Amino acid sequence: MEAELTPRPVRDSQSEMAEIVLPNDANPLGALLGGRLMHWIDLAGAMAAHRHSRKHVVTASVDHIDFLVPVRVGDLVILRSSVNRVFHTSMEVGVKVYVENYIADTAQQVASAHLTFVAIDAAGNRVPVPAVIPESDEQRRRYDGAGRRREIRRSELERRRHGGR
Ligand SMILES: CC(C)(COP(=O)(O)OP(=O)(O)OC[C@H]1O[C@@H](n2cnc3c(N)ncnc32)[C@H](O)[C@@H]1OP(=O)(O)O)[C@@H](O)C(=O)NCCC(=O)NCCS
Repeated sequence: MEAELTPRPVRDSQSEMAEIVLPNDANPLGALLGGRLMHWIDLAGAMAAHRHSRKHVVTASVDHIDFLVPVRVGDLVILRSSVNRVFHTSMEVGVKVYVENYIADTAQQVASAHLTFVAIDAAGNRVPVPAVIPESDEQRRRYDGAGRRREIRRSELERRRHGGR
């Protein structure tokens, strides 16, 4: 059990997923559907959470997502994810989404999101997750930010549980 909780560096969780936007992913005007992108963000986030925790995980929450630029049929969407910070049974994962147009040879950031995943065992019980070790300045910045975001999420959740909207 203790070996399972040995801390791991952020780089062990870093994941990349690529999708070519097909007509079935798009609206009648050929623009990627927001819901499809959210699905891919969830999958890319889960990939990092699985790699870090080596456990089953469920999505507990997805923070605010902005869609910065439209994505078209034929574009290549790249999603990069990694674990920002582990708390006890939960972990915050950051996902950044880029679009590459291989004809025009351009790349742009499309969206970013923070998701929280909770690790569970086969019976659905919550289980602890090993700590994550940030190694670069950027990873330390995300680690610190995740602590602040967790406090905001907890107070929002508390407010909603007590009847606020
Ligand atoms: C997420 C879930 C496991 C939390 O269970 P819970 O009994 O409410 O647990 P607790 O309130 O004791 O919280 C357990 C952990 O989850 C975290 N958590 C709970 N709700 C959260 C939320 N909305 N956002 C972020 N973290 C959350 C807590 O901070 C805690 O983290 P920690 O162990 O690292 O300190 C439970 O609500 C669940 O199963 N939800 C459905 C998940 C699912 O089906 N997702 C797919 C989408 S349909």
